[in-house]
Amino acid sequence: MGLNVGDFLASAISPDLVDTFAIMGYEPTEKQVVFHTQSRGGVNRILYGGAAGGGKTAAMIQDAIWFATNYPRIRIGMHRKSYPELDESLIRELSNWDYAKKLASVWNGTEPRWNKTAKTLTFPNGSVILFKFAETLADASKIQGGEYNIWYFDEASLCDPRVIQRLEERLRTRTPLIPVFGSRAGSNPGGIGAQFYKDNYIKPTDDGRIVYEFTPEGSENVLKYSFIRATAYDNPYLDDGYHDTLNSIPDPQRRAAMRDGDWDTSEGQFFTQWSRARHVVPKEDTFTIPMEWQRYAGVDYGIHDAWAVLWIALDNNSRMWAYREYCLTDVQAPQQAQLILAAEVAAKESSVVHVADPSMWGQRGTPYSIADIYGLEGVGLLKANNDRVVGWSLCHQRLNEGPICEYHAHKRELGLWYGDTCPMFHVFESACPKFIETVPALPRDDIRPDDAKTRNVEDHMPDAWRYVNMYAGNFASPIFYEDYTPPTAQQVLERMNDQPTADFSKPMRFGMSSEDFHFPADLNNPSSRGGW
Ligand SMILES: Nc1ncnc2c1ncn2[C@@H]1O[C@H](COP(=O)(O)OP(=O)(O)O)[C@@H](O)[C@H]1O
Ligand SMILES: [Mg+2]
Ligand SMILES: [Zn+2]
Repeated sequence: MGLNVGDFLASAISPDLVDTFAIMGYEPTEKQVVFHTQSRGGVNRILYGGAAGGGKTAAMIQDAIWFATNYPRIRIGMHRKSYPELDESLIRELSNWDYAKKLASVWNGTEPRWNKTAKTLTFPNGSVILFKFAETLADASKIQGGEYNIWYFDEASLCDPRVIQRLEERLRTRTPLIPVFGSRAGSNPGGIGAQFYKDNYIKPTDDGRIVYEFTPEGSENVLKYSFIRATAYDNPYLDDGYHDTLNSIPDPQRRAAMRDGDWDTSEGQFFTQWSRARHVVPKEDTFTIPMEWQRYAGVDYGIHDAWAVLWIALDNNSRMWAYREYCLTDVQAPQQAQLILAAEVAAKESSVVHVADPSMWGQRGTPYSIADIYGLEGVGLLKANNDRVVGWSLCHQRLNEGPICEYHAHKRELGLWYGDTCPMFHVFESACPKFIETVPALPRDDIRPDDAKTRNVEDHMPDAWRYVNMYAGNFASPIFYEDYTPPTAQQVLERMNDQPTADFSKPMRFGMSSEDFHFPADLNNPSSRGGW
């Protein structure tokens, strides 16, 4: 059972404690407030994960100072993989705050003492913050200092997760008077620990929506896990120049990780432009798709291997919105067709274009192909063009930016979106979990760089999406004018009556010949307008 993040935010911090934030002149950002509240509120494992400049290192330093001041004789570890990095990040951040003079006011002028050689900060109340670096298990084993009540890991996912776990084993206490609080990791996405953090923090917490409770094997203690995602935009202390720097990172994968705090990126990823922050419409924001947007469904056939259907609507700018999916195994062809119809009928969709896996037209030694069976059940299919390279390139183009959509224009008004563009493809998180899981994870083929891998990968959703792209991916769609009401048939006829008679002796425009036009014999005689 998970706990709502709001429950933790509601648990106020005791007013008797020393407010080191005020003393230090530190005003936490919204995301930093969430981090500190959870850190003090009983969450054992926190990942503060996100963009470069999200305020992670600063928050960890301030969090540690608060614990050191308020819990006498507490032992706090602060870790980074290597010494130069430790010096550049945690230690530099600490020294930027002029902490010694400010904190002396807590102890009648006695300052905390920094020991440069040991890299420890000792407080007048006996608390100590120990700065440590360790890259390998051997390094981790050598770290002295017995037990720790809290560990902070800076850029944790750049480090071997086993090193972090080895250090977490030191989380214990000599006296019940000082509790063990747990570990807090601050990290940009990516690196060798990325999968570990995705599996243990991001997925189980439903992307940070809940606090996840976990009981390790052979233990009675429940561990509470949380994930906080920060982007560089969450930190108002950064200047515009920094945002420009992040925006100009040429490698799209690295840009998504550093700017958007995107944990979906990975080595060998096929859709490198994928960005959760830009393509996915989060659960909280679902809206009803207007009836007039043309709808498509891509069908990838399978029975034991999964059967996948992806529904997509095209908005008036030709932007794709993936709004429904099926991904099921062991469903026979007639039931597949029935399920498709059931979903569309329930949503009152009457003109969905179904573009399907060409293998469904293959001969099976029976009178009917799978496509025939679908047809008999009432689902007419169009045979998809299976040119993989062209199909994938259309998918890639889709992920690129275009004119901003209404939804993101609204977000921008709320200060939650930046810039004048958004991608030409969006997907609803509430409706398409399989798509969001498998499309970013699709690996590139080792030999043919324009193609995705096909062996041992979950490519049903990507294939369904590709089929739709081959059909609807040419960015040519009717333009709808907001203040334009189409004329009625009666009005069309009346206007025709006013037009001069066509001169059929001249060639027609568009290369058409007069035979292509079939006017009623006598436009002035209403009885000859049958069928109009
Ligand atoms: N609440 C805050 N008040 C003042 N400065 C802050 C605050 N949070 C972050 N900063 C500053 O913003 C910059 C980026 O923050 P940092 O913690 O280094 O980000 P990250 O570790 O996520 O990359 C640093 O210069 C830091 O001192
Ligand atoms: Mg940092
Ligand atoms: Zn948009």
